[in-house]
Amino acid sequence: MHICETISATRQAILQARQAGKKIGFVPTMGALHAGHAILMRRAKTECDYVVVSIFVNPTQFGPNEDFARYPRTFEADQALCAAVGVDVIFYPTPELMYPKGYQTFVEVTEITKPLCGASRPGHFRGVATVVTKLFNIVMPDVAYFGQKDAQQCRVIQQMVADLNMPIQIEIVETVREPDGLAMSSRNRYLNPLQRHHATILYRTLVWVKEQIAAGQRNAHELEKQMALRIEQTPEARLDYAKILDYETFSPVETIEKKVLVALAVFFDQTRLIDNFLIDV
Ligand code: PAJ
Repeated sequence: MHICETISATRQAILQARQAGKKIGFVPTMGALHAGHAILMRRAKTECDYVVVSIFVNPTQFGPNEDFARYPRTFEADQALCAAVGVDVIFYPTPELMYPKGYQTFVEVTEITKPLCGASRPGHFRGVATVVTKLFNIVMPDVAYFGQKDAQQCRVIQQMVADLNMPIQIEIVETVREPDGLAMSSRNRYLNPLQRHHATILYRTLVWVKEQIAAGQRNAHELEKQMALRIEQTPEARLDYAKILDYETFSPVETIEKKVLVALAVFFDQTRLIDNFLIDV
């Protein structure tokens, strides 16, 4: 496994694989790797001949009052996980390498970034789209893997790849959960035991919505109201958003009649957790 800290070393390693006709799979991450990341890496390993993982806590996707400085950095454990999965290259750049002095170019996806996390975290998806574009240009993968846990991020990347004619296949991988339903996240380690206990409210609320829809409930506003109520009644939890949107357009729906995204963001103190279900009626 190569650990590449420069762009030229990364390109060099991958070029050899590409010239040998290998299919290049890519998993961009911010590190603090867990079983959710591992499933993306394993998918890449199964479907491709050569797997590249990037580990970079991207400053441009964090707001001024967010957790960039304290975001967990666990490079040694990350490296061990990558090695165990059989990753071929870890690209591990510094912020100075990715955003040198004088950097001034950004990628913006407009409509799909307006609701949900885009509304709560201004500039977040501009940072994501920019860094993913840069990573795609460095790695030039055939296939790139993203987790359904970050549903809006998936849609932003798919839109960007289509709009900018990037010759990359995007694969979306299902959310990996703890045994009690909590979606795996690098941020779960911020939770104290009491918050961790109550954090299952996201999953439990999504399951409840799914059951309601299965039982014939079609009124999205009523469900959103009930979702919010459930969060507000949970100790330690503070609602950011509880929304049901059209999965294609990310616009609000009144009556649930096709594929919808049911999405939640909840604060436990400063820790913001997200989760979602895709439900097709
Ligand atoms: P990060 O949060 O490290 O996540 C990297 C990838 O792992 C994302 O595609 C994310 O959706 C996926 N992932 C995280 N938790 C998951 C889970 N429980 N199940 C399945 N997949 C999961 O997302 C980012 O980093 C960054 O925004 C990035 C795309 C790397 C750009 O900086």
